[in-house]
Amino acid sequence: MKAIVLCAGKGTRLRPLTYSTPKHLIPVGNREILSYVLMQIADAGIRDVGIIISPDSGGRIRECLGDGEQWGLSISYIVQEVPGGLAHAVKVSREFLGDSDFLMFLGDNLIEGGVAPLLAGFAASRPHGLVLLRAVADPRRFGVAELDAQGRVVRLVEKPREPKSNLALVGAYVFTRDVHDAIDNIGPSWRGELEITDAIQKLLDMGKIVVSHELKGWWLDTGTKDDILEANRVLLGSSATDQRVAVAGLAACQTGVAADVSVESCEIVDPVSIARGCVLRDCCIGPNVSLGVGVTVEGASVTNSILMEGTQVTGPVVVEDSIVGSRSRIVAHGRSGPVKLFLDNDSSVELG
Ligand code: G1P
Repeated sequence: MKAIVLCAGKGTRLRPLTYSTPKHLIPVGNREILSYVLMQIADAGIRDVGIIISPDSGGRIRECLGDGEQWGLSISYIVQEVPGGLAHAVKVSREFLGDSDFLMFLGDNLIEGGVAPLLAGFAASRPHGLVLLRAVADPRRFGVAELDAQGRVVRLVEKPREPKSNLALVGAYVFTRDVHDAIDNIGPSWRGELEITDAIQKLLDMGKIVVSHELKGWWLDTGTKDDILEANRVLLGSSATDQRVAVAGLAACQTGVAADVSVESCEIVDPVSIARGCVLRDCCIGPNVSLGVGVTVEGASVTNSILMEGTQVTGPVVVEDSIVGSRSRIVAHGRSGPVKLFLDNDSSVELG
């Protein structure tokens, strides 16, 4: 069993931050989103992993992950030259995959319980494809599965206007080599991409067996600012209450306050993740706050936010529901209402 992790998406809904930081490397609980995905893959016993990168953001991802040894993985990098869709990403991975069975994991999806249960389900019945489904409030944003009375997958549609069920396709799939034939027999969708959803539908049309597994735990698809803040909240919260059992592989979310953090007259409300080298004075931090290495907060309150490495917040301001890139400066000269920020690295904000 091999794995491919798709990290070539541009993250347009996360601009401006994704101008400087690939979305898969945005820190949540002081770890990059992608590192949780890799932990879950390692946790499921897979070693050979192909990371699909784009020519733009690939360099940063390579720099961050290296050869994968820190997770006990052997990582190969595969460049997807054009954003041709998820099935196109499988196509460009063909040489890496050979005829192996494989897990396909979208590098911005976080799943409670990891992928080991999925792989166990696949090993037990050896279908040609296995999809993970999750009931959602607005299925029109996703690929949607229609099941028959026995729970077998009968049809899959990508972002349907009128969904036939509320079961969305989560970004983790398992396939045998048969999916390559299916991909060779589909054309681009209305958005000009080779959709993995269409390839799975093609597998069904070819008479192959596709089974589904319903995820009951949380699923975080980290495509927008609010999604990232929710992921931060869920990961900090789940690590604070329960470690390995519920989260499988997500235990390494760094909760608490690092030993060398300087704290003077502060109120800290759990859960938080405060990395080494932070300086906190006359402030209130939390709940649901991640501060990267060397962040300074003086005289301010920060709640439900991620402040990345080296950022400074000074003065009487309440920073809430915010994501602030590295080395930014927020200065409040007088009292103002709460601010909600979404800033790229090296930003500067002065408040009246
Ligand atoms: C992709 C898939 C979709 C799936 C979703 C999960 O959508 O095409 O079927 O439900 O990932 O994150 P995209 O993120 O490309 O819009």
